[in-house]
Amino acid sequence: MTNRSLAKAPADTTILVTGGAGFIGSHTVVELLDAGYRVIVLDDLSNSCEESLDRVRQICELPAEDQPGGDRLQFVHASLFDADVLEELFSAQDVDAIIHFAGFKAVGESVAKPLEYYWNNIAGTLELVRVAREHDVKNLVFSSSATVYGDPDEVPITELAPKRPATNPYGQTKSMLEQILSDLYAGDPEWNIVLLRYFNPIGAHESGLIGEDPRGIPNNLVPYVAKVAVGKLPELNVFGDDYPTSDGTGVRDYIHVVDLARGHVAALDWMAGRVGAPSSEEPAQDPYSINGEQTADGCRRGVGVFNLGTGTGSSVLDVVRAFERACGHGIPYAIQPRRAGDIAECYAACDKAREQLGWQAEYDLDRMCQDSWRWQSMNPDGYRA
Ligand code: WQD
Repeated sequence: MTNRSLAKAPADTTILVTGGAGFIGSHTVVELLDAGYRVIVLDDLSNSCEESLDRVRQICELPAEDQPGGDRLQFVHASLFDADVLEELFSAQDVDAIIHFAGFKAVGESVAKPLEYYWNNIAGTLELVRVAREHDVKNLVFSSSATVYGDPDEVPITELAPKRPATNPYGQTKSMLEQILSDLYAGDPEWNIVLLRYFNPIGAHESGLIGEDPRGIPNNLVPYVAKVAVGKLPELNVFGDDYPTSDGTGVRDYIHVVDLARGHVAALDWMAGRVGAPSSEEPAQDPYSINGEQTADGCRRGVGVFNLGTGTGSSVLDVVRAFERACGHGIPYAIQPRRAGDIAECYAACDKAREQLGWQAEYDLDRMCQDSWRWQSMNPDGYRA
């Protein structure tokens, strides 16, 4: 039982990014390419557009895939259930690590379609790691979510906080997959797993070329506000103004998607032993992290768990005001009853990622809204125009 070594230059390292055509995935691909990695994106385009990868090439000044130098970014249009494609990919390419984004992620939809969510998110991941293991690829960064904390007893939330049963199948899949991936290490100490718990990713690349492009009516706050700002929707519905918060509306830890993407590059550096104290000196401070024996060439083993947030909570009305400053006009809204399953307040403690990954978010809410507005105003119909 062995694992690929990450103790080499990014230019010699290939990262498989599942769901890499999506919102967070495409922004992470930009940062990986900028860091010198070779990237293979596998995406079934069920909730994304290949256009996003064309724009990633434009941002990173990469030629087309079939041109010299263009194959530093490769795209495989397939799902995790295309076993032959997955097998061929791992056989033909020297994949060194996986960043796993692919999965359904709409909270409300997951309540209506639990079977589809459990099948796609859980079985899809099992297919991925089954084939990866056959090819000794056991370095994996998983796209997890602060939703695993449920309604926290206190804020800011540290990685010590207990996981709580999610109020929806989407959140349950994140929590279950954290457990499944941790159990892989328990059964084979060659696994090198990082679980990144995202808070609320928003914003867009400063170029305005890539951004969040939800299908239909957005479920999440900022893409909805952006559609109101660009005139595609009449007004924002504010779900409740009677929460025990500064202005009564829900408080969340919004993090710029580029900061979040850079957190994934930092996670790879940590897995390779390039950053952070030696595992032996970093006792696991929380019930979910497991510090395994580092390899002779410095690569980590075990399970690392990190919150990726800013440590700052912003209310719904804070976001509306910031977006109004960004777009230069008012955002009409109406106060509505609370949304089922919402919690009052959630924001991160980010000390662990800062101390161990050497990473912290740089951009504030105004910058997030400025970049989101630029993307939305340049692409009123997203990629589909
Ligand atoms: C934020 C705040 C709403 C929409 C979810 C998932 C999480 C992650 C991010 C995937 C809340 C309020 C929202 C609207 C509103 N998803 N709101 N009007 O619920 O914190 O997190 O999305 O990874 O896992 O749980 O994000 O943007 O939906 O809501 O008033 O039209 O905005 O009540 O207070 P949430 P959100």
